[in-house]
Amino acid sequence: MTRFVSRNILITGASGSIGSALAVTYAAPGVTLILQGRNEARLEHVAQSCRAKGARVELGAFDLVDIPLLQAWILGMDDTHPLDLVIANQGININIGSDGQGEAWADTDRLLDVNLRATMAIAHAVLPGMRRRGHGQIALLSSLAAYFGLPHTPAYCASKAGVKAFGESLRGWLAPENIGVTVVMPGYVESEMCDAMPGPKPFLWTADRAARKIKQGVGKNRARVSFPFPLNFGTWWLAVLPAHSSLKILRWMGYGA
Ligand SMILES: NC(=O)c1ccc[n+]([C@@H]2O[C@H](COP(=O)([O-])OP(=O)(O)OC[C@H]3O[C@@H](n4cnc5c(N)ncnc54)[C@H](OP(=O)(O)O)[C@@H]3O)[C@@H](O)[C@H]2O)c1
Repeated sequence: MTRFVSRNILITGASGSIGSALAVTYAAPGVTLILQGRNEARLEHVAQSCRAKGARVELGAFDLVDIPLLQAWILGMDDTHPLDLVIANQGININIGSDGQGEAWADTDRLLDVNLRATMAIAHAVLPGMRRRGHGQIALLSSLAAYFGLPHTPAYCASKAGVKAFGESLRGWLAPENIGVTVVMPGYVESEMCDAMPGPKPFLWTADRAARKIKQGVGKNRARVSFPFPLNFGTWWLAVLPAHSSLKILRWMGYGA
């Protein structure tokens, strides 16, 4: 694949922890950052940090479960700033609750909209332009939770496994067209979402560290950027071992339902 410098970079979920760290990490003179989130005040704060590093910034504050709005916004941005790199980073989490009562369907439905449907819709919107231009890079935020379903977060794990499979498929399809696709699988990274998640959080990283690791891997068009090493290795084994053994290990580690 021909390498190129990313000048126009779109990041969704840029008002959040990893998204804002990514925006600041990519900010540089000559770079235009197109940042999306819902919280306008937080987006503006991130924009200021990026402008201070010499980047130009465009903002989009809206709820991306409105897929037609999301796709129209992306197409408009692609017209004025042909996109080199798109990072679908937005995400939410829910869990079965402290008493194990289960996830409400309305919450599950919304989570699938944000984590999976919007991610796929973003790719669908950016691909025609990238394919026409014959280059581009897409990074999709999955999770180490995609390797094996954790008992307390069924919907989240399902959504992230979906993102992982979708990204892997896109990569195989689009490689001959000089379009790279990277599936990003973080472990625990400091954020509001991570704080709200039940269960142990070993090898917790800062968002800045995660952003640097993601930028490095995406820049090399890695198929998968998964970290931190010990948790990546452990969760990979959960997918390889017989499922009953993996469940026993998870319960022993304190992830039991
Ligand atoms: N932190 C971790 O431990 C961890 C681990 C593995 C994977 N990840 C993945 O990394 C990504 C970023 O997570 P994070 O930890 O940085 O979480 P975060 O700080 O909670 O940020 C989530 C971002 O998603 C945006 N978002 C959520 N729902 C949205 C909606 N309906 N419309 C538009 N934007 C919406 C939020 O925007 P507003 O705040 O403006 O609403 C925010 O910018 C997610 O995909 C997450 O699943 C995180």
